[in-house]
Amino acid sequence: MQNYFSPSFLWGASISSYQCEGDNYNCDWFFWEKTKELNPCGKACNHYNLFDEDFKLAKTLNLNSLRLSIEWPRIKPTFDSLDQQAIGHYDQVINSLLKYDLKPIVTLHHFTNPIWFIERGGWLSSKNIDAFLEYLRLIVSQLCNKVEYWLIFNEPLVYLYNGYISGLWPPGIKSLNQALKVYKNIIRAYLIGYQEIKSIYKDIGKPVKISLAQHFRDFKPCDQGIKSLNSLIVNFRNKYFNYDIVEKLLKNHSLDFLGVNYYCREYVSYKWPLGIECQHNHEHRRNQLNWTIDADSFYDILLRLKQYNIPLLITENGTSEVVEKLYEDYLLSHLKSVVKAREAGVQVIGYQWWSLLDNFEWDKGFTPRFGLIEVDYSNFKRTLRPFAYTYSKICKEGRI
Ligand code: BGC
Repeated sequence: MQNYFSPSFLWGASISSYQCEGDNYNCDWFFWEKTKELNPCGKACNHYNLFDEDFKLAKTLNLNSLRLSIEWPRIKPTFDSLDQQAIGHYDQVINSLLKYDLKPIVTLHHFTNPIWFIERGGWLSSKNIDAFLEYLRLIVSQLCNKVEYWLIFNEPLVYLYNGYISGLWPPGIKSLNQALKVYKNIIRAYLIGYQEIKSIYKDIGKPVKISLAQHFRDFKPCDQGIKSLNSLIVNFRNKYFNYDIVEKLLKNHSLDFLGVNYYCREYVSYKWPLGIECQHNHEHRRNQLNWTIDADSFYDILLRLKQYNIPLLITENGTSEVVEKLYEDYLLSHLKSVVKAREAGVQVIGYQWWSLLDNFEWDKGFTPRFGLIEVDYSNFKRTLRPFAYTYSKICKEGRI
């Protein structure tokens, strides 16, 4: 019965470096917070110092894997320097995961860039791709004996939308043209990076699995206004925000599995050029961030991804709630969608809750809380949320 997950199923939780480590001074986000006078990330969860304690807690929750990212701006704080201490730090981080039998799933780029990279034109300039690849080679060569799962990018379309279309995130650009250039460069960096990682692993004769974590949103046309136009925008968004990148990478034989980040459904109304989220109440509940929650949408997305015939690893799924009980409801209903999808023949090889810890939610600061573990930011004390015990039991028993 598919409800019983095999022992190799990757039960885990996700984090990203900038959101929980703290003190990432050389990062474009750090600079952005200062210039925009946003709530600073500051020490975040102090995970840079408390990582071992955090992984120990993950182990007590019966997780067998953990997804994290490496902070490029730490590794290369300036154009011509390398921070050996930072490289050594991530080596320790991976050792700590292995000590607790947590299989590392490592992201190389989770939204943040070194300030010097952005000053040189960032992802807008194809000349800069080499700088990213140099960092990729360095980290992968350092960790290849300990890591099997790599995600080259986290949610490139979210990065591109917020950084180059809405301008809400650094570098704060609002231009479809520029966004297209960034898209091309990121895909190129991915494709070359994929080959580079393969060749490093070929040399050491070890297996490796490479992908990206792609954000999927279940776009549905709003039933008010001009329906045909709403549907047109939905088709456009589905193509460019959800599936186009997957198809491009598959065409180049460069996806060993697919990292799936899924959170919510979005009703879309027509507005030139990309449509807007419609705020009508469509009978689904909304979470603290006003996201429309519907676990059936998750099932629909998983089923749609079946056509690509590659294993799916849920690299993020989670919510931020005010009412405690709703975390558990979200977890159980979404895991049921995973079970249903597996019964329908979708290959899902793992599930990573976002997030292991409450952390810095980008432009929204510290108010949203996604963690299995609650963080008291005044003293960095960690406390398990009640739904973490439910998740822990599921991970232990391999069934819902
Ligand atoms: C991102 C995370 C973020 C989470 C919740 C994902 O889009 O990868 O960095 O914290 O969603 O918004």
